[in-house]
Amino acid sequence: MTESERSASLAVFPGSFDPITNGHADIIRRGLSVFDRVTVAILVNQEKKPLFSVEERVRIVREVWEGEPRVQVDTFSGLLVDYATRVGASVIVRGLRAISDFEYEFQMALMNRRLKPRVETVFMMPAEKYSYLSSRLVKEVFELGGDIQGLVPDVVIRHLRDKRDAAR
Ligand code: PNS
Repeated sequence: MTESERSASLAVFPGSFDPITNGHADIIRRGLSVFDRVTVAILVNQEKKPLFSVEERVRIVREVWEGEPRVQVDTFSGLLVDYATRVGASVIVRGLRAISDFEYEFQMALMNRRLKPRVETVFMMPAEKYSYLSSRLVKEVFELGGDIQGLVPDVVIRHLRDKRDAAR
């Protein structure tokens, strides 16, 4: 197959991204080493009480990946597999940090496969230094005055500070 015959591969990296962490960024980078393009798909979920609105999260992820045209940012609601099919992605990428992630991820991957067998879930492991990292912990540590340098992109630290200052 020649290069021009090969259709560009697209992977969807779904999640809440409230906010994006360096662990997420690490998975996106790994995704780019395997797939031509990665779409960061932010779930619009009215039930959860997020710190950043969906619009803010889209803006933040776009700022982080400014200058990298292979990364796109989008939102979705409804079933993830329907979204993936709609945008022409045959792969869902998820990060696996530890064994504790496994059960939930395993259930989701098999349910998604049952719903749409042609959409494959690919798991990627972030660097060990991010294996304990989560958006929830980052928010908690920041709120309590701890240092989150190196755990999230600098853009995120700026947005967290702006939000804190606006609430004062
Ligand atoms: O960052 P998160 O909260 O771990 O991401 C979870 C996400 C967005 C991947 C998951 O909640 C999801 O895919 N929701 C969309 C609804 C759906 O498709 N549900 C069935 C999946 S088994």
